[in-house]
Amino acid sequence: MTDRLLILGIETSCDETAAAVVSRRESGEGKILSNVVLSQLDEHVPYGGVVPEIAARAHVAALDGLIAEAMRQADATFDDLDAIAATTGPGLIGGLIVGLMTGKAIASAAGKPLFAINHLEGHALTARLTDGLDFPYLLLLVSGGHTQLILVRGVTAYERWGTTIDDALGEAFDKTAKLLSLPYPGGPAVEAAARAGDQARFKLPRPMRGDARLDFSFSGLKTAVRQQASALAPLSEKDVADVCAAFQHAVTETLAERIAPALTRFRDLFGDQPHPALVVAGGVAANAAIRETLTRLCGTHRFQFVAPPHALCTDNAAMIAWAAAERLAAGFDPQSMDVAPRSRWPLDSNAEPALGSGKRGTKA
Ligand code: KG4
Ligand code: ZN
Repeated sequence: MTDRLLILGIETSCDETAAAVVSRRESGEGKILSNVVLSQLDEHVPYGGVVPEIAARAHVAALDGLIAEAMRQADATFDDLDAIAATTGPGLIGGLIVGLMTGKAIASAAGKPLFAINHLEGHALTARLTDGLDFPYLLLLVSGGHTQLILVRGVTAYERWGTTIDDALGEAFDKTAKLLSLPYPGGPAVEAAARAGDQARFKLPRPMRGDARLDFSFSGLKTAVRQQASALAPLSEKDVADVCAAFQHAVTETLAERIAPALTRFRDLFGDQPHPALVVAGGVAANAAIRETLTRLCGTHRFQFVAPPHALCTDNAAMIAWAAAERLAAGFDPQSMDVAPRSRWPLDSNAEPALGSGKRGTKA
């Protein structure tokens, strides 16, 4: 018996096939022994978005090899593991079936427990793996499928404070890019174009300004971009850069406005917490302008700003293995073998579905 839990994680909920081996010491210290991710991006680019059928087939083709590679890099055998963890939702159902069935097969062949992990829980707990953060903290999850503010109170104790009532932020970047004929995925393309742009040339709206809820809305911004683009057509390179800069400026200002009251609310609730923290996760967290804005906002509110390394902000299996390690260490039971994948699976089961949200709802 060592004082260390060893977990194999499997992630197949969207367009990344991933496997990882992670350890957790009794002290709570986590270590990533391997973290293998195969992005399917090239296969989806010709279609301008993720095609579920292609994604599921690509997971089938790649997953076994990736798991073998993750185990090899970690220098571990299935026998050494304390548990297998597989993303069980939310996400594209075809991919979830592939990952969960593989996890069940390994668990039953090796006689190990299986943890069915909510992908969002993986994102929510990553900062404890990377930064050893104590509970509670606030999480801003900004990806292609989600824009959520979550209070992370403890393992399995998540409160959704806010969510998008229409488009996810990554989706807004992707749609803006499409409207401006920039390549998919749109986030990096819009950010790059914005660098050369004049953010003051166009005035775009600040959605939900003055609204007391902690929710987000981005579809109005996208509509404003569409109107601006058609008014300008045909767009010069300078026009595209200026619209991107105005869009990104509107996004950063909106994020700061929407998140500030959440920081105040956190402080009101947990005044005795010596180091309150805001953690960011999801693909949009790669955006430098957004990171700068959040850093500034946290500075003003005397919050610590925690941004895990990019590879652990986007989809990966280390976060899935880690979530299972946290569950195991906290005394939660593993799942039975008949657990089923769930394309929709809110992290906070008490949170009402937000009006108009989840139109896409497949990516996390
Ligand atoms: O978390 P992620 O890799 O995948 C899921 O959605 O699960 O996030 C992808 C999203 C895409 O919408 C992409 O356009 C956006 O993150 N993104 C960015 C940037 N890099 C990726 N958005 C803004 N700025 C970026 N630099
Ligand atoms: Zn995700």
